[in-house]
Parts: sequence; C-alpha cells; structure tokens
Amino acid sequence: MSSIHNLAPSRGTAGKYDHLVRADGLVHRSIYTDPQIFEAEMLKIFGGSWVYLAHESEIPNPHDFKTTTLGRRPVIVTRGGDGRLHALLNRCTHRGSLVCATEQGNAKRFQCPYHNWTFANDGELLAVTFPEGFGPAFDRRAHDLGRLPRLESYRGFIFGSLNAEVEPVAEWLGNARPTLDWAIDKDEALSRRWRVVKGTHYAFRANWKHQNDNNCDPYHVPFLHASAARMNQERHGAGKGLDHVKGDRNRMYVQYLGNGHKLFDQRPEMGASWPRTRPIPGKETHAAAILETCGETRGMAYLERVGRAGINLIIYPNLFIMGHGMFAVYEPVAVDRTNTRYYTTLFEDAPEEFNTLRIRFVEDFNNLAGRDDNDAMERIQDALAVIPEMEWLDFSRGLGTDRESVDASGVVTGNVMDDTGVRGSYQRWKELMNRDVRLTVA
Ligand code: FES
Ligand code: FE
Repeated sequence: MSSIHNLAPSRGTAGKYDHLVRADGLVHRSIYTDPQIFEAEMLKIFGGSWVYLAHESEIPNPHDFKTTTLGRRPVIVTRGGDGRLHALLNRCTHRGSLVCATEQGNAKRFQCPYHNWTFANDGELLAVTFPEGFGPAFDRRAHDLGRLPRLESYRGFIFGSLNAEVEPVAEWLGNARPTLDWAIDKDEALSRRWRVVKGTHYAFRANWKHQNDNNCDPYHVPFLHASAARMNQERHGAGKGLDHVKGDRNRMYVQYLGNGHKLFDQRPEMGASWPRTRPIPGKETHAAAILETCGETRGMAYLERVGRAGINLIIYPNLFIMGHGMFAVYEPVAVDRTNTRYYTTLFEDAPEEFNTLRIRFVEDFNNLAGRDDNDAMERIQDALAVIPEMEWLDFSRGLGTDRESVDASGVVTGNVMDDTGVRGSYQRWKELMNRDVRLTVA
C-alpha cells in the first residue's frame, strides 16, 4: 500500500452547501463560477463518488491501456496480462511527472521520462535507476503508482472511485439500470463484439454542470435548435432529427432516477429510428449495401440501430448514454472549462457500411445543433460570472404542480418539459457536497 499518498478526510461540511440549492428549485450562481466550489467538487463528486473512466472494449487485449481522467486527475486504465483491470494515477511517485502521455496503446510497463523509473501496468514499481543512491530506508512498495481503491465494470462501462467505501456500481446505478440495460441489450441482440471509437470532441468555456443539465432539458429544444429544425423541415420534410420534441403535451417524459441519474425518454413519441435519420452523404448507398449483404430482416435490424435511440440517460456525474452505441463523457477542466467527448460503439462482425453510418450519425447532431448548446452554455457562464447581483437560476418548472409523480421505487416522473430530472441532480449535488468523505489511494 502506498500509504504516503493517502489524503486526510474532508471534515465539517455537513450542511455547508444547503443554502446554494433551495427546495423551491432555485440554484445559486456561485456553484458554476466559484473556483473553490469547483475544487471541492473534484474531491466530493469526482473522487468521492463513482466516475465513468473508460469502456472495456477500448482495452480488449492483455496489456492494453487508455489514459483518461478522474475529475482532473490523469489516470491510466490498464488490462493486466491476466485480463484484470487496473486504474492507476498517472503521476510518478518519484517527483510527480506524468508517466504516460500516450492516449491509448499496449504496454507491459510504463517508464517515466524524467528519471526513468519503470512501473508495471498494474502499478508496481519495477526498477529505480541508479538504485544505490537510495538508502536502506527506501521502501520500493510504497512507491508503486497510486491505484484507485475501487474499480468496477458494469457490462463494459468502467467506473472508478477514490472512496473505498462507495457502494457497488450496480447498486449505485439503481433505477438507471433498466434503461442502460435496454440500450446494451438492443445492441447485444445483434453483436457482442464491440469496439469504441471517438466521435466529436468539444471544449467549451462553461461549467460542467451546464452540460449535465442541458442533456436532460427538452424545454430548450424547440427554441435553441429552431434553425436546425427549420432547415430539416424545409429540406427534408417532417419526421427528421428532433422535430418530435416540440411541446409539453405528449407521452414523452423526464425522470429523476436517484443518485443524480436522470432520463429524458423520447421513445413514446419518436417512432422508428432509421426513418428519422437525416439525409447525409452516402446514406442511401450504405443502406443498400447492408440490405444486399444481410437481407431485408437482418439488414433493417442493423439500420434500426443507427441514429437516435430515443433516450438521453445521464449517469451522474459524467456519463451520457444516448443508445445505439452513442455516449458522451463530461470532463471538468476548470470552473469555466469543460470537455465533452462523444463516442460510438461499432460492431466487429457487422458490415463495414453499418459502422460507417454509426460514425456519421454520432457526428450528425453535434455538427448540426450541438454548437447551439455550447453557445448557450457559454452565454450563461459569461453572464453568471459578471452579474453577481443576480444570484439565482430557476429550475422550478413542474414543482408544485400535478405534473410530477413518484413511484414505489422512488423514481420521480415529470412532464417532458419540466425540470424534474435536473432538480433531482442538484439535490444529489448538495448531498454529495455536504458529505464528509475519505479519499484514499491504494
Ligand atoms: Fe518520474 Fe523522476 S519524476 S522518475
Ligand atoms: Fe440541445
């Protein structure tokens, strides 16, 4: 155990954040603008809770690795020679250099570039250069790379935590599980051989929570994305893109699922996925090739797994599942800087045209309308930063109306345009921030 790296527990924060998230749905501006609150989030939320790190299919073979982040901490997720997963803090135990600067690869060992200490891919310190200089008290074992004390995979999605006491992932996913399972089952019905590829990567000048809110905020869709909707309508006719998200009197809904997780469910109104995809270059030829290779039934089954699946499932704090292989990861960089990285899974055993279509459609919405969201989030961030006299943001929509109901499992269901899901996430934010938590490095 590298005990020299354990952190002191945070203490005395019970109730400290209560006044920033009010029961009437108002949330204080400082939680998006205060660098000290951001630092606390990196400990309490991106440290003290489960955080998504990587997908197993990104490191399928022995000795594969991928670099990622836990909050802002650089992390290497590795698969050892025995197939076991490890999550290592990418920080040399000698003088602190980043050990691995490569995004992805296969390596049994990592060698620090500064003084060439060498670590195994399970974190063990294997060799110290010119070892005679270190006295008899030097403890090699205490200089293994820091390991996350908790690491679990749920059906390929790998989560890590610095809180050794955090509940098992399946329990923490809780009411988010059925929708996550639905998305995975739908793909697994056609293939169990997946690989993950990168889609669009956005870096924007706003707090990470704006993105987390935005993906469960159908209220903005008819307005902020109006130009995209109009272009679709005029060029391609009705039934493309997001034109089913246009009002609050329909069967779609939002849900707060507990533990910060939330869902915007479009499936009741969306209809089939493939006819809703927008025309893009090559769409018809790729579809024709798939139908010719696989026949009508299986070919259509592939095409029905392209484009929108009808779910926006946000696994708090940093994973956004869209289904049909598409997901995104929110990466906080600073109080007013965030990266959002999109990915899609491909099927190793499907026609290549299917994989091409998946790639085209994970890019599609982001290139067309995602930039509207980024612009809105940056406008919010800018205004919140410079107008301290106006303190509150309003997430009260649906509160105190008969539009919300709670079922026996605690899931709160609200009208599709209401803040039910987002409000729940802020209650969880307050709970996590108020909690005394002990972070450790194993
Ligand atoms: Fe890594 Fe010195 S900082 S070997
Ligand atoms: Fe949007």
